[in-house]
Amino acid sequence: MGTSYPRIHAVYQAELMGKRNDRAVSKVLGVDVGGSGIKGGIVDLDLGQLITERHRIETPQPATPKAVARVTKDLVGHFKWDGPVGVAIPSIVRKGIAHSAANIDKSWIGEDAVKRFSKALDRPVRVLNDADAAGIAEFHYGAAAKFAEGVAIMLTFGTGIGSAILVEGELLPNSELGHLEFRGNEAEHWASAKVREQEGLSWKVWAGRVDAYLNYLEFLLSPDVFIIGGGVSRHRELFFPYLETAARIIAAELENRAGVVGAAWFAAQKGGL
Ligand code: BGC
Repeated sequence: MGTSYPRIHAVYQAELMGKRNDRAVSKVLGVDVGGSGIKGGIVDLDLGQLITERHRIETPQPATPKAVARVTKDLVGHFKWDGPVGVAIPSIVRKGIAHSAANIDKSWIGEDAVKRFSKALDRPVRVLNDADAAGIAEFHYGAAAKFAEGVAIMLTFGTGIGSAILVEGELLPNSELGHLEFRGNEAEHWASAKVREQEGLSWKVWAGRVDAYLNYLEFLLSPDVFIIGGGVSRHRELFFPYLETAARIIAAELENRAGVVGAAWFAAQKGGL
């Protein structure tokens, strides 16, 4: 996959978890770049909620940095927004540089994402991994807030499988559990929401795959809770009954808005925006 292995950066981590909570703004445009759609909305950070509709534009193909930045600019134009912007992308992001590209164009690898978006939008932009964004949004405003004392694993099921690991509220950034090899395949090539659609699997059959994957993660990491996010979290009643782990399984409260909210939250953490 062409990844470099991430280390935890204390400053990045502190920013992610709000220890440098010098929030200068209360409203930020959050953007969540996905394999099929790029979603945006203005987030009120006091409420942890979108105060506009969630606007979606098809992800351009190929989803190169230039093409994605152009769509992000269109989103800013759609909302006539002149404030700060945070962007979540489906890549390992370290110090603003993208280090992987599983469901977007390979040309993202090595791209200075912060520079690319800041230039396109003509303002400072902050960038992080999409599942990390979803995890911190659930931690600050949603389902994970109740599990501040344990180990929580957020998984987003969409085009791929994204992950965020929170240990007593601390994020381990860039965890990439969707790429774990499982049953001879990368987990996300076997159990993502896209695979369910592509292979025409019933919810029950797909849930069986998700259950096997969760049990494997449970064996490896012993979490207290799994938070299931992505578009599928709206259909929890169709597959949750088939999931059985010792860890609790809950649906993301922010559903498919978590990436947008988390991107906005992250952008507001650093002074000077
Ligand atoms: C990417 C992750 C991303 C996930 C969800 C995976 O293919 O490698 O970085 O979080 O998809 O979009």
